[in-house]
Amino acid sequence: MSERTPIVADAPAQEIGDELPAIDPTKPMIASAWGRKRSGKSTFNRRLYRSWPFDKLAIDVNGDADPGADAIAVHQDALGLLPSRFPDVAPSVPGAPRPGARNLVYRADPGSPTYEDDLDRAVGMALYPQDHRALVWCGEVGEFMPSAGRTRPHMRRLLMQNRHYQASALFDGPRPVHVNKLVLGQSDFVAVFDLPDPDDRERIAKEIGYPPRRFFEECETTFRRGEHWFLLWHAETHTLYRCAPLPPMAED
Ligand SMILES: Nc1ncnc2c1ncn2[C@@H]1O[C@H](COP(=O)(O)OP(=O)(O)O)[C@@H](O)[C@H]1O
Ligand SMILES: [Mg+2]
Repeated sequence: MSERTPIVADAPAQEIGDELPAIDPTKPMIASAWGRKRSGKSTFNRRLYRSWPFDKLAIDVNGDADPGADAIAVHQDALGLLPSRFPDVAPSVPGAPRPGARNLVYRADPGSPTYEDDLDRAVGMALYPQDHRALVWCGEVGEFMPSAGRTRPHMRRLLMQNRHYQASALFDGPRPVHVNKLVLGQSDFVAVFDLPDPDDRERIAKEIGYPPRRFFEECETTFRRGEHWFLLWHAETHTLYRCAPLPPMAED
């Protein structure tokens, strides 16, 4: 039996300033951030990514990821293939100290004839080995699924079974209506930055189960506060938060 207090799925947004709710990185999770260009999506995901204490991979499609100075680039081999699993995973030996977490970045080439396959193979690096805990940041989620019907195998597996693969994921995109509904449906956290199109707002409201008209009003109230204000939905507790712009990160 759950000990949680009863859920009120349409409670007004709670004001929480710029302190994000704590995220337990030992539990696989999915976060997605939505909003128009330059609204703050990548800044949100970068904050989660940089604070992630375990192995992680940023898949950078437009050079915007900035995954940190310690990020090591992953390259395709002579046959043009990426590793099929997270590279150099040490076998787990009971009691042995954990090797330091690796921060990898794959800079995809949108001009490559194998671009879509490359991206999906990169997603596979976060899935395998299956018992290996990793976070993958898929910036510009639309690149990974030009339409919902074309969601590729590793991405589909990530979306549907991330917990069974110890995989966590960060997504960002400008237009939720153009992306497989599973991304929203499977998100433990949904960050909503300035999102002007009513269809996009409605899509999010319906997928998170919040009354669309009320969600629209919460969007208006939040975005009127100023640039980079956002709403944050926490699926587990069915709580909507109103968040002030995130403060700059120390290393920026
Ligand atoms: N909380 C914030 N406070 C100040 N500037 C911000 C904040 N969030 C984003 N910015 C700035 O806005 C610009 C766009 O942010 P970014 O996260 O890259 O947007 P998006 O990914 O939505 O296109 C960047 O120059 C970034 O530094
Ligand atoms: Mg961005």
